[in-house]
Amino acid sequence: MKQISLNRNWLFEKPESAPEQVDIPHCWNRLDGQNGGNNYFRGLCSYSREEEVSLIEGERAFVEFEGANSIATLTVNGTEIGTHRGGYSTFRFEITDALKAEGKNSIRLDVDNSHVEDVYPLMADFTFMGGMYRDARLLIVPASHFDLKDAGSSSLYLRQQHVSAELAEIEAESRLTLAAKSTGEYRLQLTVADSRGRLVATASSLVESAKTVSSLSVKQKFVIENPRLWNGMEDPHCYEVTLQLFDGETLLDQRKQPLGVRTFTVLPDSGFHLNGKPLELRGVSRHQDKKDMGWALTSVEMEEDIAIMKEMGVNSIRLAHYQHNQYFYELCDREGFVVWAEIPYISMSSDTDHTGSNAKEQMIELISQNFNHPSIFMWGVQNEITIGDKQESTEEIVKMLDKLCREMDPSRLTAQAQVGHHPDDDSMNGITDLLGYNKYFGWYYDEVEEFSSWLDQFHKRFPQIPLGITEYGCEGILNYHTDSPKRSDYTEEYQMIYHQKALAIFSERKYLWGTYVWNMFDFASDMRDEGGVKGMNNKGLVTHDRSTRKDSFYIYQARWIDSPVLHLAGKRFINRKKGKTVIHVITNEPKVELRVNGKRVAEGIPENNLVTFTGIKVGSGLQTLSVFSENCSDAMEVNGVRKADPAYTCPEENSNPIGDVGNWFETGDSDAEVAPLEFPEGYYSIRDKISLLLKNEETLAVLTKEMPQMYDHPMFGMVKNMSIERVIALKPDAFPAAFISKINIQLTKIPKK
Ligand code: GCU
Repeated sequence: MKQISLNRNWLFEKPESAPEQVDIPHCWNRLDGQNGGNNYFRGLCSYSREEEVSLIEGERAFVEFEGANSIATLTVNGTEIGTHRGGYSTFRFEITDALKAEGKNSIRLDVDNSHVEDVYPLMADFTFMGGMYRDARLLIVPASHFDLKDAGSSSLYLRQQHVSAELAEIEAESRLTLAAKSTGEYRLQLTVADSRGRLVATASSLVESAKTVSSLSVKQKFVIENPRLWNGMEDPHCYEVTLQLFDGETLLDQRKQPLGVRTFTVLPDSGFHLNGKPLELRGVSRHQDKKDMGWALTSVEMEEDIAIMKEMGVNSIRLAHYQHNQYFYELCDREGFVVWAEIPYISMSSDTDHTGSNAKEQMIELISQNFNHPSIFMWGVQNEITIGDKQESTEEIVKMLDKLCREMDPSRLTAQAQVGHHPDDDSMNGITDLLGYNKYFGWYYDEVEEFSSWLDQFHKRFPQIPLGITEYGCEGILNYHTDSPKRSDYTEEYQMIYHQKALAIFSERKYLWGTYVWNMFDFASDMRDEGGVKGMNNKGLVTHDRSTRKDSFYIYQARWIDSPVLHLAGKRFINRKKGKTVIHVITNEPKVELRVNGKRVAEGIPENNLVTFTGIKVGSGLQTLSVFSENCSDAMEVNGVRKADPAYTCPEENSNPIGDVGNWFETGDSDAEVAPLEFPEGYYSIRDKISLLLKNEETLAVLTKEMPQMYDHPMFGMVKNMSIERVIALKPDAFPAAFISKINIQLTKIPKK
């Protein structure tokens, strides 16, 4: 197979903008998708270029795109070749017949990131960046070749049928397209080499030729004796499997794929096990964006993300909420991360397609394209799909996706991530092998300590369900600081304490199969306006540009890495009110000493990796604080000022996390007695989706009268897909019963037509 990069020199055309010459990866929302206002360009753009292609008799040509969001249509020399629906997976089109015999061919890819009701995701808390944002190439193959029309896969499926310390039995399935040949056969040669290039297994098969072009699959079995296992970060050993297709002595086509042999299981009372040994999964989630680049990341940015995660001691990554770049999964294979891969069947099911057909297509592509990555252990079928409500079809779609995963790949685990308020006893929870809950105790609701009781009661009630926490986190904005952190204050200090408490709770509960911080990095979500930062989800442990590790980063590092960590927190909390302040030291050392201007003032022993020194005196002006442990030291300067620095407090009007939708409702009457709610059939009620209520003039009038603030709320776009009842469930304390009753009484007087 010849591969010709198509990354350079595309003419990019966007409505109302001058055409420009661009290279890909390219993303047209890299700036307007991160600056807030939920007004980034969503529409149709095009990329075009020319390419000379000369084919030898019988050769066939394909173009391959690794990702274009979200609907892409290819036209070659004026002929429309096909359309791909889904923004995250590799897709290919054959263009042989559309090519000119000589000279340049024009190639155009129209890419559209408009909302379409049946291409997932429909709604989510991140910017749906438009663009041809991953590599593209031309592929030229002889008439007989490894199939290029198999859902973007490598056409090689390595199935680990039995793995033990003594033996690995593998079946390799190759999908082939073979040219007509009146006599003779083709030969498929398989070789397996270990990481040092030593041959460990071979197999050879003859494939009978046919009189017509044929598509077929060939299965070959091989055995590796005393295999060196892929053993997570301890030893992420990969074999390399090479498949070669010969006609006589002529090599026609070949494929190389990694093979990491391993066994794994999840037990509901003792979590994840790799190669027979328990492995605590220390997880974070990642989105595929970076400041000013949008999704147009190169290998440099992906390697940087991996390096930062390793620095923190991560060993498992939830690659949310869609298929990531192939190169990222390759890095995970090489480094030994345990990966959760998922499709964007998230937040909301389609109103027009109740069968989940696009989710199914994306799942088939995810599995086909990533089948051989040893790092992937679970296929995530949905995320928070019941956030608005559980439609009749939702459970059926989840079951269908789960079944699809099991059929395509019985070797891996199926998984799903429920929204925090999804009922514990709902039947959906038993569908997948693994259950995850996205829980935001301590941010959107309640206090972080609530994790303990919720987890324990769930585990006690459903001891057979393997439970994990697939998201938890809170905002931490570098500008905000305090000596007395509290929920929703957006300070770096609250974020640090939150993570310190959450991590301590999780670490004690060995039954959890895994936990995933939301999120490793701040990420663009253009509809957000959190703590005065527009367009950003600030729950990252590291900033959007990757330049700053927030204090919470070191909480994880101190627990998760073996080498000594000593971090003096609060380095950005420079101006401190004269008098007394609180100093936090994060460490995995047994003891620390604090000095002010070189003078020893206190000593402390960490509890869950944190030492909190209260009552530390701050005088006027600059002073140096330093900490020492057996192996390390760290220092910072603070400035004693007369009054607390107002710039360190998030202004009231900017403090509006989604959970605070409570302020949409007028309070008052909070203690009034109310009659039980009624839901007469054929009438509207608080159980209808807000979006439905907006469609009827009378119900719209009720909402506009009672909840006028709702329309301006940054999360309105997301929340309107919920019923009022669901919104209430997000933060029950915020909604006075009298008010709920008042709205419901008005709505239930309006008949549904
Ligand atoms: C959700 C969701 C994320 C989102 C996060 C948040 O649970 O799955 O996509 O970003 O919560 O609110 O920060």
